[in-house]
Amino acid sequence: LPALPARAQTGPQPGDVQPLPPGGVPQLPAGFLWGASTSSYQIEGAVKADGRRPSIWDTFSHTPGKIADGTNGDVACDHYNRYADDVELMARLGLQSYRFSIAWPRIVPEGTGQVNAAGLDFYDRLVDKLLSRNILPMACLYHWDLPQALQDRGGWHNRDIANWFADYARAVVGRLGDRVKPWAMLNEPSVHAIFGHGFGNHAPGLTGWPSYVMAQHHQNLAQGVGAAAVRALRSDLKVGTVFSLQPIFPASQQEADIAAAQRFDACWNTINLDPLFHGRYPAPFENVFAQLVKPGDMEAIRVPVDFLGVNYYGPSYIKHDPAAFLAQAGYGALPPGTPTTLLGWPISAQGMVEVLKRLRDSYGNPPVFITENGACYEDPAPANGTVQDPERTEYFRAHLTAAGEAIAQGCALNGYFAWSLLDNFEWAEGERRRFGVVHVDFETQQRTPKSSALYLSQLIRAHRAGV
Ligand code: NOJ
Repeated sequence: LPALPARAQTGPQPGDVQPLPPGGVPQLPAGFLWGASTSSYQIEGAVKADGRRPSIWDTFSHTPGKIADGTNGDVACDHYNRYADDVELMARLGLQSYRFSIAWPRIVPEGTGQVNAAGLDFYDRLVDKLLSRNILPMACLYHWDLPQALQDRGGWHNRDIANWFADYARAVVGRLGDRVKPWAMLNEPSVHAIFGHGFGNHAPGLTGWPSYVMAQHHQNLAQGVGAAAVRALRSDLKVGTVFSLQPIFPASQQEADIAAAQRFDACWNTINLDPLFHGRYPAPFENVFAQLVKPGDMEAIRVPVDFLGVNYYGPSYIKHDPAAFLAQAGYGALPPGTPTTLLGWPISAQGMVEVLKRLRDSYGNPPVFITENGACYEDPAPANGTVQDPERTEYFRAHLTAAGEAIAQGCALNGYFAWSLLDNFEWAEGERRRFGVVHVDFETQQRTPKSSALYLSQLIRAHRAGV
């Protein structure tokens, strides 16, 4: 076992043998990469440190009524100051890789122009620390924390953002590209477009169909222009991006619901997949997007990627709703008896297999990492040095088993990152909704590995030992 920290520990430790949940041990091939994910605004805190300027999430979370429990990311997990301990924890859990995101407002505080060396220094320290513990860093350039200064210039509604993003990407990769090789451009652009620019329950809180469409197209464009800029800097990088993908089902067999589900599938899934892999927008919305697409855009978006990150949580059930901004496609009722997590999200490990098979069959089977997968549950308080989270553990077991099944069916799946390493600031839900495999006490910043972390740790060690 790697050395444990000096301070006294009680309770089970990473690597201790825990009873495995019933249902069998997931089978993953040799070389499969095991990791955990986080994002900058959700964990870093230190929002005013070393020249960082506000992001749209600072503005939004400080607007009364926007966050369910009134919390914000000012401190979050204080990871900015505690990153070294957090990396030690990852090492103790046996993680092989760590996916994190870079905060644009630390690097280019005003969004364009002056690069802030002190902001880059933080990620430099983090990366060196990860490498010193043999943990492969995977960096994501944009996980929703746009500099507020850019929002003031139109944000994702302004097509200049593609070049702003490319400039920022060059600054980051120029500094870290000698040590960080996998680079994801964006995190879940369709979700950022739908919730941040359509429903308005995420930052920047904009609403309506035209707003959503602009935010979606300009993210696709920035992703392509950014990827080309990064590639041009170095030839040894693995350049990709991260999409949220899910099966979409009609909430009933009525024709209107079936059609609404097809439109929702286009807005959630293929609005990202079709431009990237086929160079066109999905049929239901080709005409809508045609108004925004300028000559050369689709060629810029259709760049070969070295990998696709897939964030998978579960399927959605959709009903026709004339009032829904999103092409009259609203959320419908789940089939009776569907198991759900605390957020009401349906659980279906098989849905992950379906998503991966879709990539295999319709998008050329690109190399994939599951870059997020996890579940929100009401956890008990820490006791005896751990937190018992059997439902989350079972969620991981089921989805890792599904990952093995997808590989057996020829899907090019190369690794799996749990969401999330730490309990963190869960966007509009605030700190009250927890996804971590490590419990965080937001008063004391004490970290306590949950039994799900110990389960993953045990699987990783067995897997690495070839058991
Ligand atoms: C996906 C997002 O990328 C992440 O930021 C979020 O916390 C999880 N989903 C859970 O909602």
